[in-house]
Amino acid sequence: MPNNTEKNIKFSEKYLKTTWLTDVRNYYIEKWTIVVNLGNQKAHISAPPEKYLLPRTSTILKDVTIKDGDSLLLIEIFNETNIGGIVLESGWDILGNLMEFPKEVPLWKSTQYDLGIAKFDPYFVTGQSDKPKDSNLKKYQVKVNLWFAPAKTNCAIHNKHMEPDFLEVHTQIYGTGRMQKFHANNFDTIYEDVIMSPGDTHIPFASVGENGNFVYPWHQYYSDTDCIWMANEFHPLP
Ligand SMILES: [Fe+2]
Repeated sequence: MPNNTEKNIKFSEKYLKTTWLTDVRNYYIEKWTIVVNLGNQKAHISAPPEKYLLPRTSTILKDVTIKDGDSLLLIEIFNETNIGGIVLESGWDILGNLMEFPKEVPLWKSTQYDLGIAKFDPYFVTGQSDKPKDSNLKKYQVKVNLWFAPAKTNCAIHNKHMEPDFLEVHTQIYGTGRMQKFHANNFDTIYEDVIMSPGDTHIPFASVGENGNFVYPWHQYYSDTDCIWMANEFHPLP
């Protein structure tokens, strides 16, 4: 199998360089780059003492070599000037134009890309069991897209995305925001605030319900500053 297969992902031509890197072998990261592990294996980072990036987690790296890994997404911000203009680039639209969603919420979505298939035990990944079990392994289609919202945007409380639901985690790309949980579909009922800085991915908010599908608390993304973040979605395959 060839090593370090690179595919350019066109979230942006002007501000971000995004590369889907598969079959990773001693890949050098020169400039500050957000690295998201979308695969099934740990990605070891070649600096003593050697540590690693687990699947469905991320970090921000520079001047270091990634030793291995099966599927990583690399995002480098190469131009910050007018970065809010990312929403004017091809493939982006305000969510209210794409689906039934309040038109007054300034939330923009990029094109969504399919980035391979992941395999995991959903009970382990959501923290409901302490060890993965082979008999629980399932396959998931990995899909990613970026979001943009200006500072102080409530991006809408929800507890469902589709039927059956996917597993989502978010990676902060630019600015600082929060993933928030609520007791009800009401901003006054907030009970958890997870701060997101560039390179952070939160742990899954989902659990696995009795029917085996992912279930969510009421949740939303909130932007403290102008924010770009990425949705990493794992859609169950039959
Ligand atoms: Fe969500």
